[in-house]
Amino acid sequence: MNEALGSFSTAHNSDPLSKHHTPSGFSDRVAFRLTRLLRFFADLFFAKRYGHRAVVLETVAAVPGMVGGMVGHMRSLRRMEDNREWIHTLLEEAENERMHLMTFVQIAQPSVLERVLILLAQGFFLPAFYFSTLFLAAPHIG
Ligand SMILES: [Fe+2]
Repeated sequence: MNEALGSFSTAHNSDPLSKHHTPSGFSDRVAFRLTRLLRFFADLFFAKRYGHRAVVLETVAAVPGMVGGMVGHMRSLRRMEDNREWIHTLLEEAENERMHLMTFVQIAQPSVLERVLILLAQGFFLPAFYFSTLFLAAPHIG
């Protein structure tokens, strides 16, 4: 195995997308299976409608930056310390993903069902990212 690629298998060296990190440990295996499960349902729902898939994904992609920026903002308020650089970086990331969404909406207009899916995804991912950010950043929240 090529040392530079670490634990990535290189069965098809000519295709960079064929590289795959071999799951090691419990959390890797859970993350891998969860990702495959979500991918299965996404493939089933969107099939070859890649523009629609991108629209829905971009609505989720914009959430972590916004949540991270908000958590940093609230921490800055609690500690009464300036943390503007990190807050702005995360909020810019959220804005960047929102701009991706605006681009993909020009390609594919989401259906009513997809808009419901977006609403459900936001309802799930917003608190999920918020609470996972709190747990991950717990020692730094105070
Ligand atoms: Fe994006």
